[in-house]
Amino acid sequence: MLEGRISYRITGREYFTSKLLIVIGSTRPGRVGLPVAQWIYERATEYGSWDVEIADLVEINLPFMDEPSHPRLHQYTHDHTKAWSERVAHADALLFVTPEYNFGFSAPLKNALDYLFNEWQYKPVAFVSYGGVSGGVRAVQMLKQVVTTLKMVPLYESVQIPFVQQYFDDSRAFHPSEAAEQAAHDMLVELARWTSALQPLRAGSGASES
Ligand SMILES: Cc1cc2nc3c(=O)[nH]c(=O)nc-3n(C[C@H](O)[C@H](O)[C@H](O)COP(=O)(O)O)c2cc1C
Repeated sequence: MLEGRISYRITGREYFTSKLLIVIGSTRPGRVGLPVAQWIYERATEYGSWDVEIADLVEINLPFMDEPSHPRLHQYTHDHTKAWSERVAHADALLFVTPEYNFGFSAPLKNALDYLFNEWQYKPVAFVSYGGVSGGVRAVQMLKQVVTTLKMVPLYESVQIPFVQQYFDDSRAFHPSEAAEQAAHDMLVELARWTSALQPLRAGSGASES
């Protein structure tokens, strides 16, 4: 479980960094999801206790779910599934950056979730959402129903960015509000707590075996 982790010592005790995988849920050309994900990536990196990676569903480029067996059986036939499985299996925590499309979350994110099962379970998941007046809250509510089926633990603390376009300047740089910065901090603190709390549950469960 802790293979390949960077470790550090505080007062003689050894600690390991946790791997945080940030998944960008939108794939549209010109998407807001990319700069929003880059912002939360920076905040998570600054927070210090994370080894942070971005999983961009554009680059990962999964076709619509094309595995013959239920993911729980782990009988993957395609290289794209095996690669996706490995990336998620190595994460200790997830953070989904999600748009709101028609009061729900995006189809590419649902597809990416459906590809796997064991790789998700007993891991905490945090959300950064954005949209119009709702700030993507309806997408997150819908996501919570799906992620609990995959035995993930969704956090209460989250970041919602209403009317997201107002935080972009003319050069398309993203300048989040103070409220978003504070919410991001609170969410990352809580995510670190849940990551530690769930670690023993995953150890030995085979949940993350790829
Ligand atoms: C197909 C589609 C459906 C949308 N539905 C909603 C919605 O239900 N609620 C909302 O707040 N914004 C909605 N929007 C506006 C999006 O929040 C906004 O376009 C946002 O930038 C989309 O994220 P993205 O740029 O990362 O794709 C929708 C946009 C698209 C393209």
